[in-house]
Amino acid sequence: MNLAELNKVALAMVAPGKGILAADESGGTIKKRFDAIGVESTEDARRDYREMLFRTTEAMKSNISGVILYDETIWQKAKDGTPLVEIIKKTGALPGIKVDEGVKPLPHCPGEVVTIGLDKLADRLPKYYEQGARFAKWRAVIDIGKGIPSYNCIRANAHALARYAALCQQAQIVPIVEPEVLMDGDHDIDRCQEVTEFVLKETFQEMYYAKVALEGIVLKPNMIVPGKKSGKKASVDDVAARTVNLLKCCVPAAVAGIAFLSGGQSDEEATAHLDAMNRKGNLPWQLTFSYGRALQHAPQTTWKGKAENVAAAQRAFSHRAKMNGLAAMGQWKADLEKKAA
Ligand code: 13P
Repeated sequence: MNLAELNKVALAMVAPGKGILAADESGGTIKKRFDAIGVESTEDARRDYREMLFRTTEAMKSNISGVILYDETIWQKAKDGTPLVEIIKKTGALPGIKVDEGVKPLPHCPGEVVTIGLDKLADRLPKYYEQGARFAKWRAVIDIGKGIPSYNCIRANAHALARYAALCQQAQIVPIVEPEVLMDGDHDIDRCQEVTEFVLKETFQEMYYAKVALEGIVLKPNMIVPGKKSGKKASVDDVAARTVNLLKCCVPAAVAGIAFLSGGQSDEEATAHLDAMNRKGNLPWQLTFSYGRALQHAPQTTWKGKAENVAAAQRAFSHRAKMNGLAAMGQWKADLEKKAA
């Protein structure tokens, strides 16, 4: 393992004004997104859609440091035969790869899941490196509900994250460590904070046992927000203050960078929260975005699978990438959104 090189890649992923495009939806998830815009999820449609994003030169060059790909995409070629990975690399962004294989029910823990995919990971990683991947992603999912999460669920997921991260570093790939506490429940913001704290503490403890070098990882956490079904809203300031304070308590300064997931927040909420956190300044790590929905919702709903909408969809993607790029530097303003509209 060359830690200096891993650290260089990790820092590039969170470079000022840039963040990560999470375009690694699994077959099931991309079908759901396409269903919503009336597009059949064929291999060609998925290729066309993702090619459209990767060819959005302005966004890719100015605000996107890396793209997380699904296994299908990393081997795919654009319509003209150019590998999609080459299109990404040409913009200066780094290709990355989602390597977990989704979730399975956790025995004896009703309603809880554990992320799988470790078994052959050591063999798969060098192939992804060869194909151009310089970072990877593994997402653990922790749900909040009546009597959950259990300690068993948190520990099993933290342990898997740590084993994944160590395997990635061994293969000279920067692991994005993503322990996502879902915002789907009816819990309040205090409960989100309490669970996220436990999950982060456990994840870093397991990474310590697994000898993961923190200078060579990027953490992808959730923000501290009330559950969607709680009917409660927190102010932007409250979310930002709680999230930053909690990260200070749980995340060592050696960690190369932090890139948030959007998790079901609206596009503008995800941007406003990131901006408010970065306005606090004086943090040991760069805070940026690794958004899926909050970057792609606008281009998807503009595109709708039609060639004549491609240019408008690319503008919509560029706009969100730019807004989030500004938020990553604490320089976003709400009226910039209105101006664009
Ligand atoms: P969202 O921003 O839509 O939560 O997706 C980010 C991601 O990669 C989840 O694993």
